[in-house]
Amino acid sequence: MSIDHPDFDTRAVRAGTLRSEFNEHGEALFLTSSFVFDSAAQAAARFAGEDEGYVYSRFANPTVRMFEQRLASLEDGEDCLATSSGMAAILATCLATLRAGDHVLCGASVFGATTQLFSNLLARFGIEVTYVRGSDAQAWRDAVRPNTRLMYCESPSNPLMELVDLQAFAATGRAAGALTVVDNCLGTPALQQPLRFGIDVVIHSATKSIDGQGRVLGGAVVGTRAFIREAVLPVLRTAGPSLSPFNAWVLLKGLETLNLRMRAESASAAELAHFLEQHPAVARVFYPGLTSHPQHALAQRQQAAGGAVLSFDLRGAAEQLRERAWRVIDGTRLMSITANLGDTRTTITHPASTTHGRLSAQQRQEAGIGEGLVRLAVGLESTADLRQDLAAALDSLG
Ligand SMILES: Cc1ncc(COP(=O)(O)O)c(C=O)c1O
Repeated sequence: MSIDHPDFDTRAVRAGTLRSEFNEHGEALFLTSSFVFDSAAQAAARFAGEDEGYVYSRFANPTVRMFEQRLASLEDGEDCLATSSGMAAILATCLATLRAGDHVLCGASVFGATTQLFSNLLARFGIEVTYVRGSDAQAWRDAVRPNTRLMYCESPSNPLMELVDLQAFAATGRAAGALTVVDNCLGTPALQQPLRFGIDVVIHSATKSIDGQGRVLGGAVVGTRAFIREAVLPVLRTAGPSLSPFNAWVLLKGLETLNLRMRAESASAAELAHFLEQHPAVARVFYPGLTSHPQHALAQRQQAAGGAVLSFDLRGAAEQLRERAWRVIDGTRLMSITANLGDTRTTITHPASTTHGRLSAQQRQEAGIGEGLVRLAVGLESTADLRQDLAAALDSLG
């Protein structure tokens, strides 16, 4: 039986599957660095790209390929290349696109290492960056320069859950002749597919919800076949930030349950966000599923649910905010104090002193990441247990 347009859930468990001569049902793990050629002539043809087969796992590997094809299908993209981490995916996209003298527009509220990449590393190679408030569509348009080659954002952003209007962002990029790139790490294809809004390229830290169980690092770039094959593949071949077949196999399994996990974690996060919003120790909750979120209407248009991540600002005198945030974090018993997110186990973090600790105080202030901000990445524990854990930690503030 063949089904013309299988649904997301069907593609999540079946898309991209390749079978070897043994016709195995579970996807095989091809733990090999290279592939054997029948002859010297075949080796030469493979290296020259005249023969389609596999050569070396830095370029391509069947297990990695299965992961790439499944993720491309879920993102509604033509093709995908997997990388060793999310940062490697961002770097590979930049190396595939930018040259000295180019200008990048980046959302002000993005992952700390992404800011470091643009402001410190790429700046050394003559690439300029301007940070723009992600939610301000006019600010993106106003910041475009004649040499703007790439526009980069997260939506929702980590950790403030700020949204970018993806349709407007794509239109600005098209008008500017710039490549639009969206880090879809927090949304995941289970909640939104940026390419459907006209975005050119989607980036993933597969380390997060795609793995979903905090086991391996991985990343991916999804886009048109031409961009992936002609621009990104040469970077992987030459610079080598490729995904290991073992990690690809783990991530392939993660994709199978992504939708189930994202729906359950979003429901739990929404309930916790409501609880936090009522708590007297909390000044503000950042969660797109709340009606108090300034972009709630956009979230409803753009995302299938609010997502698993939320942040909240504590009340208190400015000089006490870090201490209060640390007390809440240390006061939880069930949650893990760790930098990862998108795990089945809930994680709790103080962004200002960890994930965003390498930013200057001014950069953090501009990004809205205060000392009293706490980030939760909600997992699959019982929501009642999580609420009780948070309540005890918050009540201890007095
Ligand atoms: C939104 C976002 N993008 C990218 C990354 C980088 O991913 P990785 O740690 O897999 O390099 C992270 C990591 O936390 C992230 O939160």
